[in-house]
Amino acid sequence: MARQKFVCGNWKMHKTVAETAALVRELRSALGDAAGEVQVAVAPPFTALAAAVEAARGSAIEIAAQDVHWEKQGAFTGEVSAPMLADVGCRHGIVGHSERRQLFGETDEAVRKKVGALLAAGVRPIVCVGETLAEREAGRTLEVVDRQVRQGLAGLSVDELGRLTIAYEPVWAIGTGKTATSAQAQEVHAAIRRILRDVGAPVADQIRVQYGGSVKPENAAELMAQPDVDGALVGGASLKAADFIAIVKGALR
Ligand code: 13P
Repeated sequence: MARQKFVCGNWKMHKTVAETAALVRELRSALGDAAGEVQVAVAPPFTALAAAVEAARGSAIEIAAQDVHWEKQGAFTGEVSAPMLADVGCRHGIVGHSERRQLFGETDEAVRKKVGALLAAGVRPIVCVGETLAEREAGRTLEVVDRQVRQGLAGLSVDELGRLTIAYEPVWAIGTGKTATSAQAQEVHAAIRRILRDVGAPVADQIRVQYGGSVKPENAAELMAQPDVDGALVGGASLKAADFIAIVKGALR
């Protein structure tokens, strides 16, 4: 079954409100019909989500959050809940990004709770998984990804599984300029697809698995031409309109 490609820009801790509105407006005017054939989203910081939603209104560009807390509300200073993300107009929420795992101690258990909270609020999770360089060199890539996928998605119904996206982001490729080769990406994406079949049989072939890690206009089309690479989660190159547009167009080829 053909899966629609899904390209999401993860802006990380970049862009003010004004810069966000300007970039979203630039994307919407340049992408026109391309956004639609390819599913396109951007994930600005929390402070700029409302401005992004406003700037994207009436276009096919969707807005994603970069993180979420699993509780609906309460005494959790500094956190933002899934119903709050739904309220501001987010369609997607990224969870389990390796920067959250490595710099902020996010565990597979936290990822599982965040996925559940997003789904309950009607926001679609983008669940990030990926091995470190040490894990890859020790031959543990598939074992690590297997654990992250199974534990992050534990207990979900078939219907819930059908609403999420997985992003395979090898940690050694993030922000390093070192992209996985298309063969390396395809190998892990195919393994993720097998795990998805194992945990959610009927919908496994509908779930998009994005690749992330130094995706650029020069490598995007080849990566996304792999049978199990269904799009991209783009960091640095999503901050410049021309690069992000070229990557989205790479998904059309
Ligand atoms: P880069 O594209 O900057 O390597 O970042 C990838 C990433 O972490 C997207 O979530």
